[in-house]
Amino acid sequence: MKFDVIVIGGGAAGLMCAIEAGKRGRSVVVLDHAERLGKKILISGGGRCNFTNVNATPQNYLSNNPNFCKSAFARYRPADFIALVEKHGIAYHEKKLGQLFCDFSSRQIVEMLDAECKKAGVQIRLNCRVEQVAKDAEFQLATNQGSFSSDALVIATGGLSFPKIGATDFGYRIAKQFGINLVPARPGLVPLTFQGDEQSVFGQLSGISIDAIAIAEDVSFRENILFTHRGLSGPAILQVSSYQQEKGGIAINLFPEVNVKELLLRSRQSAKELKNLLAEHLPQRFTQEWCTRFAPSKPMHRYSNVELEAIAQRLQHWEILPSGTEGYAKAEVTLGGVDTGELSSKTMEARKLPGLYFIGEIVDVTGWLGGYNFQWAWASGFAAGQFV
Ligand code: FDA
Repeated sequence: MKFDVIVIGGGAAGLMCAIEAGKRGRSVVVLDHAERLGKKILISGGGRCNFTNVNATPQNYLSNNPNFCKSAFARYRPADFIALVEKHGIAYHEKKLGQLFCDFSSRQIVEMLDAECKKAGVQIRLNCRVEQVAKDAEFQLATNQGSFSSDALVIATGGLSFPKIGATDFGYRIAKQFGINLVPARPGLVPLTFQGDEQSVFGQLSGISIDAIAIAEDVSFRENILFTHRGLSGPAILQVSSYQQEKGGIAINLFPEVNVKELLLRSRQSAKELKNLLAEHLPQRFTQEWCTRFAPSKPMHRYSNVELEAIAQRLQHWEILPSGTEGYAKAEVTLGGVDTGELSSKTMEARKLPGLYFIGEIVDVTGWLGGYNFQWAWASGFAAGQFV
C-alpha cells in the first residue's frame, strides 16, 4: 500500500502530525503496535490529561540545544491547542501553575484526535508491528499487516518510559539505522531512591507530603515533596530529577516561607523540645525521624547558638545523595534522544535523510512537569505536519 506519509506511533505527536498532513490533502496512515490509540494520553494527568500549560516557553524545556524548540513553539502555541479542545466542547480547568486538565477524562482528548484524523482522511492501523524499514526511492516498511511504502516517514514512537503500556526503543533504532546521532537517553520526571541508611529511616514516612523547595544543579522548584517506601517523589522532586546529574546530589529547603534560623534562635530560652517546635511547621512523624537522624531532640535551651545555626542550615539546605532513580518504569518522560543538530527546527526533517522526520518525545527536547511535554508533542507534530 502506497501513502504520501507514514507516521509510526499513534500518540500525541504522531496524531497531531497526521491530522495536519491529512488536512493538506496528503494521504496518511498511522501505524501503531498497540491495540488502542494514545495510551499514554489516556493515563496522563491521573486520567484527566494535563494537555498543555498556558505559561509554556522554551525556558521550560531541557535540550542540548535550548533554542531548537523555539521555532515550533512560535508556530503552535498553547492557545492553538486550547482552541481545538474548545471546538470539541471539552470542559477543562486550570489546576495550578498554568496546568490545564480535562474536567472529566483524558479519553476525550484521544476521541478528539481520533475524530480530527477521520475528518482529515487519515487511516489508522492498530496492532501493527513494523518489522523492517528500508529506503530506496521511497520508504519501504514490512509489517505484520503487509508492506507499506511512502515518500515521507515520520517517527513518533515516544520515549522509553512506561514500557508496560508499549514504549519501545524502536525509534532510536531507526535513528541509528540511518546514521542519526542520539543524545544518551535517561529517565526524567522520575522518583529518586534513597541510599540504604536514609532509606531505612525515611522509608517509614511513606505517604507524607511537605511543601518545600527542591534544588538540583542551578534550578529549584517549590512544590510538594512526597516520601515513598524507597525514596522521594512529588512534583518538586520529579522536576529536579530531570536536572540532577548522575551521581549528583539534591538539596531540600523544608522551610520555604520561614526564616528557620530566626525561629530557632527566638525559641532558645524555651523548654520545648526541638522536634515539637519543628512539628508546628512540619508533619510530626517527619520531625521525629529527622531529629533522630540529624539533631537528637532536647529542650531548646540546651542547644548552643552554634548548634542551632547548624540545624537551621540543614533544615533549609538538607543535602541528599540519592542512590538512583526508579527508572523508566516510573519515569514520566525520557531525556535525550534524537540529537536536535540532526533535524531542521522548522520541519523536524532529518538533514541526512530527506523524507525522514522525528517528532515528540523521541527528540532531545524534554519539558517540565505540568503539561509542557504534551505541548512539545503538539507543536513538533504540527510543525512536521505542514511539510511532510
Ligand atoms: P507517545 O508515547 O504519546 O506515543 C508513542 C506511540 O508510539 C504510542 O502510541 C506507542 O504505542 C507507539 N509505539 C511505540 N513503539 C512502537 C513501535 N515499535 N511500533 C509502533 N508503534 C509504536 N505530559 C504532559 O504534558 N501532561 C501530562 O499530564 C502527562 N502525564 C503523563 C503521565 C504518565 C504516567 C506518563 C508516563 C507520561 C505523562 N506525560 C504527560 C508525558 C507525555 O505522555 C509524553 O511526553 C507524550 O505522550 C509524548 O508524546 P509522543 O507522541 O512523543 O509519544
